[in-house]
Amino acid sequence: MTTYDIALIGFGGVNRTLAELVATRGDELSRELGFGLRVVAITDLRLGSLVRDGGIDMDMALRINPADETFAAHGGSADPDNERVIRTCAADIICEATFTNPATGEPAASHVRWALEAGKSVCTTNKGPVALHGAELTGLAQRNGLHFEFEGAVMSGTPVIRFARQLFPGLNLNGFEGILNGTSNYVLGRMEEGLGFEESVREAQQRGYAEADPTADIDGHDVQLKVLIMANELLGAGLRLADVQRQGISALTPGDLSRAKNEGRRWKLVGSARRNPDGTVSASVAPAALPLDHGLAGVSRANNAVSFNTDLLGPVTVSGPGAGRVETAYALLSDIIAMHGARNQVAADA
Ligand SMILES: NC(=O)c1ccc[n+]([C@@H]2O[C@H](COP(=O)([O-])OP(=O)(O)OC[C@H]3O[C@@H](n4cnc5c(N)ncnc54)[C@H](OP(=O)(O)O)[C@@H]3O)[C@@H](O)[C@H]2O)c1
Repeated sequence: MTTYDIALIGFGGVNRTLAELVATRGDELSRELGFGLRVVAITDLRLGSLVRDGGIDMDMALRINPADETFAAHGGSADPDNERVIRTCAADIICEATFTNPATGEPAASHVRWALEAGKSVCTTNKGPVALHGAELTGLAQRNGLHFEFEGAVMSGTPVIRFARQLFPGLNLNGFEGILNGTSNYVLGRMEEGLGFEESVREAQQRGYAEADPTADIDGHDVQLKVLIMANELLGAGLRLADVQRQGISALTPGDLSRAKNEGRRWKLVGSARRNPDGTVSASVAPAALPLDHGLAGVSRANNAVSFNTDLLGPVTVSGPGAGRVETAYALLSDIIAMHGARNQVAADA
C-alpha cells in the first residue's frame, strides 16, 4: 500500500487535529482510502521543528505543551527553520496551516513556494497564498508535476471548490453568492433577535466563533479573500484583492434588522461574483436584505453556504460548516485523497 510522508507546517488547531486523525484513525483510514499517512516533520512558531525520516511518534508530539517546552527537548530544535525543513525533509506532501498576513499572503505563500520548488505537493487551509498568489503557485505546481490543493481555504471541509469543479463541466457557471463568514452571520442573527452589535460580537467571541480581534470578520476582509479565491479559481476572473468591492456589517443597527424582518427580509453579509456580458467578472462583499424565500436567507448561526448560478440547473446551493478545527483538518485530508485519486488516474492512463 502507498504511504505518503507528510510534513505539518504550523502545529495549531488544524494540523494538530490532522495529526490526531492520523494517530487515532490511521489504520481505519488506510483500509478505507487505500493509502497510509506518516508524519515525518513538524514545524511551529513556539514548538520549533522536529524531523524524523522514519516517522514521528504522534502520541509524543501531541503530548508536548508549547507553553512548557519545545521540540528541542525531544531531539528537535527550538527554531521552526521552515525553509530548511520544507526544502529538505523527506515529505511527499506539505500540509500548510500557519498564519496569513492578509495583505501579503506571507509567511504561508513562501512555505508553499519552497515546497513546490523542492518537488513536494502542498495542501493548505490558508486563504492568503491562494487569494493573493493562486495563479503563480498553481502554475509552479503544474510546471513541476505537483499538486497545490486548498479546499479548506473556503468553508473549511465543506467541499465547495472541488464540488464546483466536478459539477460544472457541461454547465456554464455565471456567478455565485454566498454566506462565507460564520461570525458575521451569527452577529446578524443575534441582532435580529434584539441584541446590540457589541453584545452580539462579544457573544460570538465567547462561543469561539469570533477571534479576539473580530475586525476581519465584521468588516468583510475574510469574505473578500474567499470571494477572490472562488472568483479566480472557479470563474477564471483574474481579479486582484482591490477589485473585490468590500463593505462590512458594522453600519447596520438592530433597527435596520427589525425593519427588514417586518418587511419579510433578512440582512446577510453576502460575498458574490458574476460574469458580465462582456466576459469580465465583478465581485463584491456587502450586506444585503434578502427576501425570506432566498436560498441564503435561512442560513443561520455560524453556518455557511454558497449558491452557484448555473445556466442549465439554475442555482445550486451547498451549505455546511465554514470553520472548526476538525472540519478544517478534514479539508486537508480531502486534499490528500484528491491527490491520491489524481495519481491513480495518471497510473491508469499510462
Ligand atoms: N480553525 C479554523 O476553523 C479554520 C478554518 C479555515 C481556515 N483556517 C486557516 O487554517 C490556518 C490554521 O488555522 P488554525 O486554527 O490551526 O490556527 P492556529 O491554531 O492559530 O494554528 C496556527 C499555528 O501555526 C503556528 N505558526 C504561525 N506562524 C508560523 C510560522 N511562520 N511557522 C511555523 N508555525 C507558525 C502558530 O504558532 P503560534 O500559536 O505561536 O502563533 C500556531 O501554532 C489559518 O490560516 C486559518 O486561517 C482555519
